[in-house]
Amino acid sequence: MSDKPRMQVRLFKPSVGEEELENLRGVFERAWLGLGPLVSQFEKEWSEYIGAKMSVGVNSATAALHLALTAYHFPRGSKVLVPAITFASTATAVLYNDLVPVFVDVDPVSLSMDLNDMERKITPDCVAVIPVHLGGHPVPMEKLMEIAKAHRLAVIEDCAHCAGGFYKGKRLGMWGDIGCFSFEEKKSMTTGDGGMICSDQTELIEPLHAHRWIGIDKDTWKRSAGYTSQEMLEARHWYYEISVLGYKYNMNDVMAAIGLAQMKKLDRMNARRAEIIRRYLDGIKDCKTIKPLLPYELENAAYWLFGVPRDPARQTHHPPEETRHCHGRALPAAPPASVVLAVRRPDSRRQTTLANLRHPAALPRSDP
Ligand SMILES: Cc1ncc(COP(=O)(O)O)c(C=O)c1O
Repeated sequence: MSDKPRMQVRLFKPSVGEEELENLRGVFERAWLGLGPLVSQFEKEWSEYIGAKMSVGVNSATAALHLALTAYHFPRGSKVLVPAITFASTATAVLYNDLVPVFVDVDPVSLSMDLNDMERKITPDCVAVIPVHLGGHPVPMEKLMEIAKAHRLAVIEDCAHCAGGFYKGKRLGMWGDIGCFSFEEKKSMTTGDGGMICSDQTELIEPLHAHRWIGIDKDTWKRSAGYTSQEMLEARHWYYEISVLGYKYNMNDVMAAIGLAQMKKLDRMNARRAEIIRRYLDGIKDCKTIKPLLPYELENAAYWLFGVPRDPARQTHHPPEETRHCHGRALPAAPPASVVLAVRRPDSRRQTTLANLRHPAALPRSDP
């Protein structure tokens, strides 16, 4: 092996700077760091950006997916379709609600839910489906919506990888009933950790304001305004009710301050990522063994990562050839562009373990 010094390529690096710092300065000056007016402002501006009637800010996409399912009050033990390749949260959100995840195989080319397998897995006790736009590659939503409608399934889009993306001219996150976004550090835009629930069905997601805030029906900063306002706007400003079992899932003003700045850069960051992916695609186009992971359609979507699949025949615990190959070269790095070098087949053991957490033996295995 060459003893040339190796270049360290950081897998993800968020693009943050002066704009975020400036917003944070305002938060520090007001000294209101918790759930506050900036969360409301971010929710409003995100709704405008995405074209949704309502958005609810939470502290992760995991929380967003959990609460999106909670909004429906599905009967315990009902089934929810999730793709076999995704991050654990897509399935754990189902379990948090005492529901059963049913794993749907993925299409080998797009790695998104195979809609034929989805239809095969629908049973009378199936209540919802969570399509995941993996890596930013859109699930064919018009087809999925048709199937979901025919079977009266709620559609919750897991948009953890595709903030700012479109499919056929319509925003990802606005095709289904509810869209859930992640603003975790490594995602298309970040608030450190954070997430957003969006929908046009305001009556469906409005109650989630209480669910994300331990069940409390009034925001603290609105109550606190009663103590300081000259007119004492509301006599019982200090009073609140807890009428649902909620969670401590709220977004806070520190996150929202960063999010408001990041949102303004999101289209630019997505365009830059597309540019970098175009460069990777160009670089590997004549390679016989290295192929792109996804059928990148850069003009349509907002891709979050670039990857190459590993040949299962060459699977090994040692770093793959491709890793060494890339470490020796100057890959474009920031703003956030990522290279994923290994994608495994869905692990049926892991799926079964997940399902057994709450519902032993309830899960049809989807992969040999
Ligand atoms: C597909 C998918 N869904 C949900 C999540 C959860 O996001 P968060 O970290 O914001 O909870 C992730 C995180 O990586 C993800 O990849």
